[in-house]
Amino acid sequence: MRVIICENYEEISKKAADIVASQVILKPDCVLGLATGSTPIGLYDNLVEKNKNGEIDFSNVTTFNLDEYYPLAPDNDQSYRYFMNTHLFDRINIDKARTHVPNGLAADPEAEGKAYDEMIAAHGGIDLQVLGIGQNGHIAFNEPDDNLVAGTHLTGLTENTIEANSRFFESIDDVPRKALTMGMGSIMKARKIILLANGKSKAAVIKEMMNDNVTTSIPATLLKCHPDVIILCDKEAAGM
Ligand code: GLP
Repeated sequence: MRVIICENYEEISKKAADIVASQVILKPDCVLGLATGSTPIGLYDNLVEKNKNGEIDFSNVTTFNLDEYYPLAPDNDQSYRYFMNTHLFDRINIDKARTHVPNGLAADPEAEGKAYDEMIAAHGGIDLQVLGIGQNGHIAFNEPDDNLVAGTHLTGLTENTIEANSRFFESIDDVPRKALTMGMGSIMKARKIILLANGKSKAAVIKEMMNDNVTTSIPATLLKCHPDVIILCDKEAAGM
């Protein structure tokens, strides 16, 4: 695992965009794994800029997002599909048919999860996965637990996550209690992973990433078993 400590959020966003852009330039028909949350917004803004100035072409890129609230319609403005459309897909020359987000209205969430993993495999797997990190060490919506599920699945959210994510909703009662999420197994199959962490609230969990312990009670620590992970964090998240 490599850790790159950046001066600030702008530098994290720029460096992350340079890495994603390199991937797209090296393999124009690559498969990107994408994340939501406030952290990758700066990365997406930089990618939009690079697309506008002709540096990168998304026309042959395929994307798979990590997760989606359940149940929530894709056109609900709190859905992750809506987030991705607004922050990235509607602003770049990507073919929307090549962008995938788990279906938050799937009648059979178990079948949806299985089909999602099969679809990723059918596209040759994820070349580069972008990740954020929850304050409790959750990745996507893989919450701390004794057991984790490897594949894409329906899961309950912890109180900690419901509270942290309530800032995007009118009231905490509006936050869905469940989500469809790629499992740690689906995520670990990505060939390369970049994890973005910004601000003091992430310092405790980033500290846990620096020691050699791996535990399902901090799902992000499983990434220590992956051969190609880069953590991009600012000084605050690095505890400096
Ligand atoms: C949500 C998402 C995660 C994301 C996390 C952190 O729970 N499911 O994928 O990493 O939020 O969000 P933020 O970047 O806003 O701190």
